Amino acid sequence: MEFFADTAETKEIAELIDLGLIDGITTNPSLIRKSGRDVFQVLSEICQMVKGSVSAEVVGLTAKEMVSEGRRLAEIASNITIKVPLTLEGLKACKILSSEGRQVNVTLCFSSNQALLAAKAGATYISPFIGRLDDLGMNGMELIEDIRIIYDNYDFDTKILAASIRSPLHVRESALAGADVVTVPPAIIKKLAQHPLTDKGLESFLADWNKTGMKIV
Ligand code: G3P
Repeated sequence: MEFFADTAETKEIAELIDLGLIDGITTNPSLIRKSGRDVFQVLSEICQMVKGSVSAEVVGLTAKEMVSEGRRLAEIASNITIKVPLTLEGLKACKILSSEGRQVNVTLCFSSNQALLAAKAGATYISPFIGRLDDLGMNGMELIEDIRIIYDNYDFDTKILAASIRSPLHVRESALAGADVVTVPPAIIKKLAQHPLTDKGLESFLADWNKTGMKIV
């Protein structure tokens, strides 16, 4: 399973690279706004830091606008993945951009039929939003499970990128459901490593070790 970080904060990205845990990055207009940086500057910096896919989202509403914005964003670096919304116009743009050999992430997916259409439009990634479905009292994880079955039934190459991840449980369940990629806010990535029994165990091992007076190096 690939791990992407859902952020446009270069400081956070640098920390995660240091940990060796990051395969790619996803951004969206809200995350770019939160960074307070110019979209081209920040994306170009991120693309230099991370070798894997870096999703950059278009904001036009027509396929024509999305295609020209997507082409412009793709000029930033070869690892840019163009993110388009799951609308009919977005699917049209996906088909055009993917036929040009570009990587496309179809975002704001909330149903398995939408995911089916994205795969048919040649999407590289489909981004089902787990947390936002859960917010409405629905089961976001069922969507990942359904898409996995549908894509496997027809051997679609489109990768399932579980998005809108709000907790370590979402990461676990996405992995169990066979998502290809999970995009996670940095704070949650760090939480994945935490366990109170790990801390307790380490504390008692070190207390015993210190009583021996020995050194390893
Ligand atoms: O990758 C999409 C993600 O950023 C949306 O997350 O928490 O705003 O629903 P959220």
